[in-house]
This record gives sequence, C-alpha cells and structure tokens, in this order.
Amino acid sequence: MRAINENTITDVALEQMAATPNPRMKQIMASLVRHLHAFTKEVDLTPEEWLEGIRFLTAVGQKCTAHRQEFILLSDTLGLSSLVIALHDKRATEAVTKSSLLGPFYRQDAPMMKLGDSIISKSDGTEVVFYGRVADSAGRGIPNALIQIWEPDETGNYDLQKHDPSVMDLRGCFHADAEGRYYFRGLCPLGYMIPMDGPVGDMIRAQKRHGYRPAHIHFVIGGPGYRELVTALYVAGDNHIDSDTVFGVDESLIVSVNKNDPSSPLPKLPSIRYDFRLAAAKDKMSGRVGADPSQITAKAH
Ligand code: BEZ
Ligand code: FE
Repeated sequence: MRAINENTITDVALEQMAATPNPRMKQIMASLVRHLHAFTKEVDLTPEEWLEGIRFLTAVGQKCTAHRQEFILLSDTLGLSSLVIALHDKRATEAVTKSSLLGPFYRQDAPMMKLGDSIISKSDGTEVVFYGRVADSAGRGIPNALIQIWEPDETGNYDLQKHDPSVMDLRGCFHADAEGRYYFRGLCPLGYMIPMDGPVGDMIRAQKRHGYRPAHIHFVIGGPGYRELVTALYVAGDNHIDSDTVFGVDESLIVSVNKNDPSSPLPKLPSIRYDFRLAAAKDKMSGRVGADPSQITAKAH
C-alpha cells in the first residue's frame, strides 16, 4: 500500500481521477488539484485555517438566492472574473471592443424599449443620452443589434437590491437601427460600493480595501452571426477609476460626459458617445462571466 504523505498525496489523488472520460474535465480537475495542493504546501495551511476557509465558503453559498450571487461577487473581488474575461478576449481573432464584468445584477427579462426611450422609471439624477453605433470589426453597422443595458440609481443600488424583484428600474433592451445606430436616455452613471453585507464584504474589510466600483453602465450586445459582447462604460474622473474593487476598467472603455454635443440625437441633454465593435461568431463561446442569479439557483436545485 502506498504511503499517503505530503509528497505522495498529489499523485495519488491524480491517479484516482485518471479515468475521467471527459478530457476537458480531466484536465481542469487535475490542474485544480495540483494548484490546490501546491497552495496548501506554500502557506503550510493549518487545520484551523482550513476550517475557516470551509466556513467562509459555506457562508458565501448561504448568502446566494435567486436575486443575489455571492459566489460571483467572490470571483469578481479576487480578480478571477477579470482573468477569465481577459482570456476570452484573447481568443478573439479580430480587434473589437473589450469585454468587462457582467456583475451580479444582470437580468435576462429587462423590458424592450424604443430608441430614444428612457430607462429611468423610478430614480432621480442627471439624465444623459447614450448614443453611438454597433459595428463589426471593419466598421460596418450591425442592423438591428440587440443592446441590453442596466445601471444603478443615484444611491448606488440596482433595482434587484431595493425593490420587490418584479419591479424593474434602470434597465432596458433596444434594437439598433438599420445602420447599427442606437440612442437611449439614462442616469449619468455614479460610483457605488459592491454589496458589503455578506462574507465577501467581511473579506474586503479585513483586507482594508475600499469596496467601491467607479461610475459605470453595463451593456450586453449581440446580433445574429456575432460574438456577444459583455462590457461596461466607465466615466472619466471617478475617484476609483484606478482601483476598481472588481478590476473591470480598461482604458478603452473610459468615456466622458459631453455637456454640449451638437451631433447628439438629443443635443439639449448631456451625452455619452460610444461606438461598439463586435467580432464575427466563430464558436458558441459566451462572453458572459456571470448570469442572472435566478438562472444559477434554478440549475442548482
Ligand atoms: C456591477 O458592476 O454591477 C458589479 C460587478 C461586480 C461586483 C459587484 C457589482
Ligand atoms: Fe455595475
């Protein structure tokens, strides 16, 4: 019988998994075990620390509901989501708009609206017009592209955090016009704190991190034959633009508010302009590092 000790346990565990029929699962699990064991040895993990980790992960799971995804928040705050996004973007073969975090507040059932409509139904704050084009990597407009948008209100909360979940605010879906142009009205984005009332918030405080995300608005954009783009626009000048708690900001996604923009479709309002570029779909790979929380709990049961 093989002795189990700190020098043999990794190989023994890997051997027992060696018959896994799914090759990708076999690769992922073997690598996970190797890295997990290497990490445990590197920090010389004690039983108390191991139990603390189990307690923490249990609390993360207990905080999850159909409207709250604490595991995604954990992935986001550890930089794991942004790493997965960066690898996803690296697989693209064309130069297109960078992806950013989906975050925990996406909903799949936002109302369909007409170009020019306002996504604001309950909130107060400075109204701005967002406009631009959705195009392919060569700059050709994508007719009828589907654009899903969501943003928090002036208190830094998404509708999912405040209301009865059947009440929606500050989210909507739009179809671009025949040239790929879009415009809609929304709140001028403000920065906010990630949800800090759960185990991830305890971790953030223990690490002396501020917990803020810089001002932003989320987009999911797709069209038949195109790779779905999950991204966000970040407002220049925010105090936390360089220290986002979830590492979502890329220089190319930073926008400014223009108070006097004659080329805006609604020139009386301040405007934010952005042209998005989508890659042709080469595979079925989704860029969604996240999901509507209700979909995750539905699958888990
Ligand atoms: C968000 O932008 O909605 C978000 C992303 C990650 C963690 C928390 C919030
Ligand atoms: Fe957000």
